[in-house]
Amino acid sequence: MDKLSVNGEIVNELLQAQAHVWNHIFSFINSMSLQCAIDLDIPDIIHKHGKPMPITKLIAALPKLHPTKACNIYRLMRILVHSGFFAQQKLGDGAGEDGYVLTDASRLLLKDNPLSAEPFLKAMLDPILVQPWHFLGTWFQNDDRTPFVTAHGKMLWDYCGHNPRVNNSFNEGMASDARLVNSILIDKYKGGFEGLNSVVDVGGGTGTLGKAIAQSFPHMDCTVFDLPHVVAGLQDSGNLKYVGGDMFEGFPAADAVLLKWIMHDWSDEECVKILKHSKEAICRGEKEGGKVIIIDMVMMKNGKGKEELMETQLFIDMVMMVLMTGKERGEEEWAKLFSAAGFSGYKIIPIMGLRSVIEVYP
Ligand SMILES: C[S@@+](CC[C@H](N)C(=O)[O-])C[C@H]1O[C@@H](n2cnc3c(N)ncnc32)[C@H](O)[C@@H]1O
Repeated sequence: MDKLSVNGEIVNELLQAQAHVWNHIFSFINSMSLQCAIDLDIPDIIHKHGKPMPITKLIAALPKLHPTKACNIYRLMRILVHSGFFAQQKLGDGAGEDGYVLTDASRLLLKDNPLSAEPFLKAMLDPILVQPWHFLGTWFQNDDRTPFVTAHGKMLWDYCGHNPRVNNSFNEGMASDARLVNSILIDKYKGGFEGLNSVVDVGGGTGTLGKAIAQSFPHMDCTVFDLPHVVAGLQDSGNLKYVGGDMFEGFPAADAVLLKWIMHDWSDEECVKILKHSKEAICRGEKEGGKVIIIDMVMMKNGKGKEELMETQLFIDMVMMVLMTGKERGEEEWAKLFSAAGFSGYKIIPIMGLRSVIEVYP
């Protein structure tokens, strides 16, 4: 059988290649099936059930399900069991029937989980953000800044400034990520804020991280700086204030500048500008020994044994190419940026899974 060949290709290898091609043609089905489960509230319904949920009970509990589609739910659940979002357990009723249970991944998508990634999923799979992927090939052949521009005629930030629905969805998605990062940062990086009297969170969105820092360090002045349409209407309180502006024109002075998920949005030239403004902001601050605190990825060089993490870093790098002008960077690329902006040194603190905290010193 191994020796059989078609047009000179060994049949087994040919069929394996076909399976690989098909697998990649249809990879988007993982995202779309997951989005569908969220649309139907499946994780929350299984969670509320409180024990393994048989398919019949799941179908009966889906309020939005049209009766003619009930026979297809097991197919949706089958692929989501395969992709690790649900598992099956015996009901323990003696009949040997299985019921669906949540996994760690679907628990992270529950609406009432304070660290829920559901808003991030919704923002990233919004049709406005997915459509530019159809224009990636066209973009490689034109001079548009991003495939998002090719699809929608303007940059993502400008689009958000004109479309409140997409603006809210994007900001909510970012805020949900910031909630998860907060809990890790305040726990594992508390010492990093010690000795600082002020911090400015540049591109800090609607202030989820800023608020958490302000609460954890009541003596510290926290400024959340973002585009005017993002901070519009947000109220200062206690040691937290909001400032609207353009980070490429500068931002308020502080002992530390926080850049969470900012640098990967921008090209090297743009990052050097942001870093130079950060250096100015720190030097204008009151404290000696200020720093920039970056939360972003450091691309791994070798994904052996960490294939899923590596693939996720590669995915997010592509997201940066399609939606923004940025990219994910390896340590050498980071070091070049810091030196180009006149910083004296840096330290990578890998405490955040796919991302790290990078301290940069003036
Ligand atoms: C990827 S989001 C990160 C938000 C937040 N730091 C977080 O991680 O949750 C990038 C942020 O940069 C802001 N931004 C984009 N261009 C900006 C500019 N020129 N000046 C200030 N903020 C900007 C966006 O509005 C957005 O809130």
